[in-house]
Amino acid sequence: MNKLKLGIFGSNLDGGFTATTAEERHTLGWPTVVRVAKLSEQAGFELNVPLARWRGLGGVTNYCGTNYEGLAWAAGLGAVTETAKIFATIHVPVIHPIVAAKQMATADHISGGRFGLNLVCGWFAPEFAMFGSPMMSHDARYRYAGEWIDIVKMLWTREEEFDFEGEFFKIVKGQSQPKPLTKPHPPIMQAGQSETGARFAAKYADIAFQSVSEGEPIEDIRRRFADLRKLGREEFGREFEIWLSCWVICRPTQAEAEAFRDYVLEEKGDLAVLDSMPPNLVPRGDSPEARLARQKVLGGFGGVHLVGTPERIVDRLKEFSEAGADGIVLTFVNYEEGLETWMRDVAPLLVQAGLREG
Ligand SMILES: Cc1cc2nc3c(=O)[nH]c(=O)nc-3n(C[C@H](O)[C@H](O)[C@H](O)COP(=O)(O)O)c2cc1C
Repeated sequence: MNKLKLGIFGSNLDGGFTATTAEERHTLGWPTVVRVAKLSEQAGFELNVPLARWRGLGGVTNYCGTNYEGLAWAAGLGAVTETAKIFATIHVPVIHPIVAAKQMATADHISGGRFGLNLVCGWFAPEFAMFGSPMMSHDARYRYAGEWIDIVKMLWTREEEFDFEGEFFKIVKGQSQPKPLTKPHPPIMQAGQSETGARFAAKYADIAFQSVSEGEPIEDIRRRFADLRKLGREEFGREFEIWLSCWVICRPTQAEAEAFRDYVLEEKGDLAVLDSMPPNLVPRGDSPEARLARQKVLGGFGGVHLVGTPERIVDRLKEFSEAGADGIVLTFVNYEEGLETWMRDVAPLLVQAGLREG
């Protein structure tokens, strides 16, 4: 097993996680999504996960707005891939757990037992307004998600019928067949960062995503990861993996990598996206910190920037691994070029560093 696991994130989005008009950008189309998935399996990646978004984040590219729905995407990819776990990202407020449990079991059968669930509660009010119902409060969203996943897990694992009555759901003689192939059930991924979100992840997740801020000392990251694991162990008797998300530009020299980043995010950057973001995400001004914060919205949507030489990228990944990260999902300006470069220039160094087996 690889010490540091890898995944692909966001190939279901037109443009991926890069708000740019640069012609090199990822262009959505099913053949491209399949090529990216197959390339990532060739690179030995362990998983593939989409973003769930019902309405774009603005700008001329309508950042993240044109995308394939995660469950349909996962079912399709499950049929044409062979080794990686294929996750669907699901906004729990918009789909009933009985419908979702059966769809997910179906996707698990299609993939031969490689399905996973990335459970998200949602945070972007305009996309929920579109459904005609206001977004619930933050804590209510997580209480709702708790009932939702409890019901899904019962549907996935119980042979006998069950009744359920909670704050949000009433289930009468609930049952679902067939069960997923994956036992005890498909893995659950969760990305809550708040105290409530972290408790939810500690209680339910097999993979907990953690955000890392630029410049956050590695000691602080290590402590955060350790605290989250302790919460899982002590409160819920559970162990889980911790993963991060990174936006990657790899070039032979640091200067080339940074020049490509500036071309993609500034010269060709979809700067109008910044105007539609909550002001706390987009600091104004000319300081290097403010510039970087803006670049992190337009590239990777908050993920760590791995921009540099293969050696520098591997050094950073080694630091994350030593701090306790079990895996990283990667996003690229262009997933095909990014994966080919990764396989050629980064993968051998990961083996040398003892992070991957090859
Ligand atoms: C790696 C990663 C992937 C995420 N994917 C989605 C997504 O697909 N859709 C979505 O609405 N939110 C997504 N989120 C946001 C989280 O679900 C969550 O709302 C956010 O991290 C804030 O945490 P909180 O809910 O505890 O406040 C993602 C977050 C991270 C870090």
